[in-house]
Amino acid sequence: KELVFSGVQPTGNLHLGNYLGAIKRFVAMQAQFECLYCVVDLHAVTVWQDPAELTRQIREVTAAFLAAGIDPARSVVFNQSQVPQHAELAWIFNCVARLGWLNRMTQFKEKAGKDRENASVGLYDYPVLMAADILAYRATRVPVGEDQKQHLELTRDIAQKFNNDFAGAIREQGHGEAFFPLTEPLIGGPAARVMSLRDGTKKMSKSDPSDYSRINLTDDADAIAQKVRKAKTDAEPLPSEIAGLEKRPEADNLVGIFAALSDASREDVLRDYGGAQFSAFKGALVDLAVAKLGPVGAEMKRLVADPSHIDAVLADGAARAEAIAAPNIAAVKDIVGFVRRR
Ligand code: AMP
Ligand code: TRP
Repeated sequence: KELVFSGVQPTGNLHLGNYLGAIKRFVAMQAQFECLYCVVDLHAVTVWQDPAELTRQIREVTAAFLAAGIDPARSVVFNQSQVPQHAELAWIFNCVARLGWLNRMTQFKEKAGKDRENASVGLYDYPVLMAADILAYRATRVPVGEDQKQHLELTRDIAQKFNNDFAGAIREQGHGEAFFPLTEPLIGGPAARVMSLRDGTKKMSKSDPSDYSRINLTDDADAIAQKVRKAKTDAEPLPSEIAGLEKRPEADNLVGIFAALSDASREDVLRDYGGAQFSAFKGALVDLAVAKLGPVGAEMKRLVADPSHIDAVLADGAARAEAIAAPNIAAVKDIVGFVRRR
């Protein structure tokens, strides 16, 4: 059976990129697959988090999942730290992954910055934990934004090396040729990489110091309108053809956002708005964004007001997640050759 797995970090400022590149696509996958959606709190603490704020953020990301339309009765919604198998499998994968592989990870280089000696060991090891998240469930499909592509390639490398290193035991213990599947990244659509509203060459990010660079899921209609109106553009009207749009990063970004919000393609948007001035296009984008995001933000605020409901969803999800992961990790331990408690 095909399983879908994905995760979002509880590190503040959930934005339009998280929504269009990830969460909105999580919702769509529920119709076809059994899905697990995880608030990756163990990943969050690779960079110091204020404890009270972390608690709040875990509940807020959970609320965003539910408000966007993830149904916790159908999909498994949980937070990573409640399911010990993630950290346990990460240790085994630490011994499978090679230093050389991790040294190539561009996100570590970006996040660690110049003061690399002072980055946490966890930040360096982040992609190994991510591989463990996915493979603890032997999930095959992982919807993410474009920035996670390299991490998913590493996940495949780890799965493949584990399958090779332990091929004998895997076969003898009746698992066939391979224990872990090779995960397929699902990256795509018009919003796989939503860019900053202030700079079309920079990705929209939770940590950008300018709040005008992003639309937060909890922004009200006025904030959305102001941010869209102030978004950087060039002076030309919108083109009617897609050719050449990529040379106008800010225009490309706004067209991509419009397309993703309206479940259309960039071509569809240009068919309707080709030749339009940005003032008119931005007006339509404000209306669309407010119509789509307003109810999500409002529902998030309603849900976080009662943490007991969210905490109950997370507890139920953790139990269901663990029921899938525990037998997989027990099998991994047998494959590696550990002695079980009897
Ligand atoms: P994070 O906030 O880093 O945990 O990201 C959660 C999900 O949102 C991941 O699947 C990311 O790839 C996706 N994501 C983050 N930023 C963007 C962006 N600017 N455009 C598209 N997807 C994004
Ligand atoms: N690294 C992802 C991000 O920052 C979050 C994440 C953690 C994840 N574990 C995962 C995504 C497993 C997909 C699958 O966006």
